[in-house]
Amino acid sequence: MKDTLGIRKAGPLSGDIRVPGDKSISHRALILSAISEGKTRIKNILSSEDVRRTLQAFQDMGVRIQGPESEITVSGVGLDGLKASASSLFMGNSGTAMRLLAGLLAGQKFSSKLTGDESLSKRPMRRIMEPLERMGAEISGTEHGTAPLLIHGRPLKGIRYEMPVPSAQVKSSILLAALYAKGLTELIEPLKSRDHTERMLKSFGVDLSQRGNVICLEGRQRPVARDIEVPGDISSASFFIVAGLLVPGSNIVVRRVGVNPTRTGVLEILEKMGAHITLENQASLGDEPIADILPQPSRLRGVEIGKDLIPRAIDEIPVLCMAAALAEGRTEISGAEELRVKESDRIGSVVQELKKFGARIEEKPDGMIIEGVENLTGARVQSHGDHRLAMALSVAGLMAEGETEVEGTSWIRTSFPGFADIFKQLLA
Ligand code: S3P
Repeated sequence: MKDTLGIRKAGPLSGDIRVPGDKSISHRALILSAISEGKTRIKNILSSEDVRRTLQAFQDMGVRIQGPESEITVSGVGLDGLKASASSLFMGNSGTAMRLLAGLLAGQKFSSKLTGDESLSKRPMRRIMEPLERMGAEISGTEHGTAPLLIHGRPLKGIRYEMPVPSAQVKSSILLAALYAKGLTELIEPLKSRDHTERMLKSFGVDLSQRGNVICLEGRQRPVARDIEVPGDISSASFFIVAGLLVPGSNIVVRRVGVNPTRTGVLEILEKMGAHITLENQASLGDEPIADILPQPSRLRGVEIGKDLIPRAIDEIPVLCMAAALAEGRTEISGAEELRVKESDRIGSVVQELKKFGARIEEKPDGMIIEGVENLTGARVQSHGDHRLAMALSVAGLMAEGETEVEGTSWIRTSFPGFADIFKQLLA
């Protein structure tokens, strides 16, 4: 994949598109089908580098996975059927793969080593090590609490755990460990994060209860295979939704996108900013709701985005900042310090790169303040090795006067390999 994307200010976008399968759901579909009893057919699974890391890890642990790229069949080995991998399991750039697999591997009868690329090896792992150790896990990382992680499988016991950060990766890591643990695990989330793991566990026949932000799961339950169709990824759709709102005269529809309420913060925020977005053909795809999303060009205004909204829009903040840069008035994002520990420090990197377009943006420890301007100016900008920043900057390039060059776009392969093609298709 090319590492630079050149973009010019563009006329209307038009088209009827689909985005690839949801990344979070794709990881979970592989994990649960691998440890279930029976065969699972997974349609529309995301074929991206991050998801391939999870797929490869299960193949390395003896799971048979067959089929073309986007429709695969996983032959589940059952709860206790995984085998030790002959070599370490490489998670690449994927925080989800590493944190979820750490939970899954903590209760096995064998040892494993999880490694990652340079960026993933800097991301915080104590947030999962600490609760997993309370369950009886034996995990060692570096002195900085980072990967590589060495996991010696141990018998686990259920715990009651109040999560200090709202994180679906931490929650899912604990839930997967809880499946192997003796007794009850009770998890309390400070704010509700994406609930794909809970939904999928239930649809695989695992008895799990949810009351408000409390989740209870009794250990040693055996998941049973069932077919899955993965909805389109709302995080990937967001780049085109924002472009469709901001570029005058655009007319686009993004079909069959997952609209799980724990993921639709981006739509709520855009609507608060004055966006006209219509959802059509609302339906269910197994345990997840989907809809066609139609953004109509809208004049946006600045808003306050506070802590409560962040977990439901965490991955969409970079592209929302692009929208805020051209909105009327001031946008203030706060309570978003989690952005600092993503694929890049997404507060520092967004601020640094948006300034190059002439945006008025200021960094805060837990977010940013953006004063909307009339026009952005094309610039040479950098992805900081972050797929979502690369895509958000490409969207900004569509709106900026003159030419923009986004460097480091090959990172887009981790979540959305066809991004540039769909982009071109909408502009044709
Ligand atoms: C994800 C959870 C979020 C999100 C990430 C995917 C998941 O991370 O940023 O892209 O699939 O569970 P945190 O749980 O660390 O906030």
